[in-house]
Amino acid sequence: MTTFEALIKNRRSIRKYLDKAVETEKVDAILRTALMSPASKRANGWEFIVVNQRDTLVKLASCREFGSKFVADAPLAIVVAYDAEKSDVWYEDASIAAIIIQLAAADLELGSCWVQVHNRTYNETTTSEAYVRNALQIPDNKHVLCMITLGYKDEERKPYDEEKLAYDKIHYNQY
Ligand SMILES: Cc1cc2nc3c(=O)[nH]c(=O)nc-3n(C[C@H](O)[C@H](O)[C@H](O)COP(=O)(O)O)c2cc1C
Repeated sequence: MTTFEALIKNRRSIRKYLDKAVETEKVDAILRTALMSPASKRANGWEFIVVNQRDTLVKLASCREFGSKFVADAPLAIVVAYDAEKSDVWYEDASIAAIIIQLAAADLELGSCWVQVHNRTYNETTTSEAYVRNALQIPDNKHVLCMITLGYKDEERKPYDEEKLAYDKIHYNQY
């Protein structure tokens, strides 16, 4: 198994973190990889907002009714925003940057979890995007795709078992 395959096999979403800050050098290394993400036509319309202030993390945790509460206790989150006017495929560009952040974190033995913001709602009248934009003073012309929580793991997750993968999803030459 290659080192990369082992990294993919062992990466699982981690939602519980030790009460320990992530070193600046590690955060910087992760952000460098994000800035090297491939993007259609090199549009590079992403913006990354690093949040490590507890009160702001607590605020972000409320951006949805379910699925985001653990953000309140994470040491750090990187919010992935995008200027949709810079690319007709912004969703793809931003998603690629987000997964690169997760894989860079895994490479540094940090846990991470994707928390969806785009297409989710805060309440009946406010989208999660509007809520996060307001919380972080992100300009209205940026979309907020997701936030990636990061930290030292405080839970064990089993690696993927390659014997149990859905090989029937793979097709050669025709469906
Ligand atoms: C596009 C996307 C959105 C996700 N949104 C959330 C979320 O809002 N909250 C959450 O706890 N996990 C979220 N996840 C994590 C998934 O639940 C997780 O990746 C999936 O269950 C597979 O588990 P694993 O990451 O441990 O392999 C999201 C993952 C992706 C790729």
